[in-house]
Amino acid sequence: MNKKTVVHFLEQKQKKEKIVLLTAYDFPTAQLVEEAGVDGILVGDSLGMVVMGGENTLKVSMDIMTYHTSIVSHAVKNTLVIADMPFLSYQISPEEALKNAGRLISEGGAQAVKLEGPVSKYGDVIEKIIKAGIPVMGHIGLTPQSILEIGGYKVQGRSEACRKRLKKEAKELQEAGCFSIVLECIPSDLAKEITESLDIPTIGIGAGPDCDGQILVCYDLLGWGKARFAKTYINVRENMKEAFSTFVNEVKQGKYPEEKHGYT
Ligand code: KIV
Repeated sequence: MNKKTVVHFLEQKQKKEKIVLLTAYDFPTAQLVEEAGVDGILVGDSLGMVVMGGENTLKVSMDIMTYHTSIVSHAVKNTLVIADMPFLSYQISPEEALKNAGRLISEGGAQAVKLEGPVSKYGDVIEKIIKAGIPVMGHIGLTPQSILEIGGYKVQGRSEACRKRLKKEAKELQEAGCFSIVLECIPSDLAKEITESLDIPTIGIGAGPDCDGQILVCYDLLGWGKARFAKTYINVRENMKEAFSTFVNEVKQGKYPEEKHGYT
């Protein structure tokens, strides 16, 4: 099977075939996610929270993103790998943004990058990166890197003014050349309207069923998810906890290791 590219995403939208993405940050998870049949893996800066335990994504650096992206790229064969551009990697200047995006591709092995925010703020950045031949995924709605400005992880696009702004931002990201757009935490009817108004695919997270595709943070479906949109498919968290405490108890009680676990 040939490697998925951003062109496949556009074809999937045209064929009305749902696009499925998951995040992954390490080798075994990336392999399993690929085997499950996703269309793309996002090495999200959510790793600042779910892997590093931070209260937000702002402490994730370019070195950390490049490191995790290279692990994920090494693990997969056919899946499109998209790397998140972390906080301050694209906000300073278009030149620095291109250098950092290029690093995620050449050192990290990703095939595309994602950055948060509208064309009114980052139009020149998006243009510079795309002109260099690097596909860009947009991200609007709840944009976690703006958490200090937004003031909390809240649904966006509830007021008429905000709805209008988000519709405009989506159109402008398409015009700027983005190959798809993540819509995070916006009302389902707004996500539907935006999706129907665009030629490029929308990828929803907490944005209802009518987006062209869906993405979840991998831990959000394994028992760690707290958000309303997170669905626990298997409670791996509970299973891990049980395995760890059984090990502790067995060692304390002298039940592990048994003879078969040793060497003669
Ligand atoms: O960082 C991330 O994982 C993301 C997804 C939630 C879309 O941006």
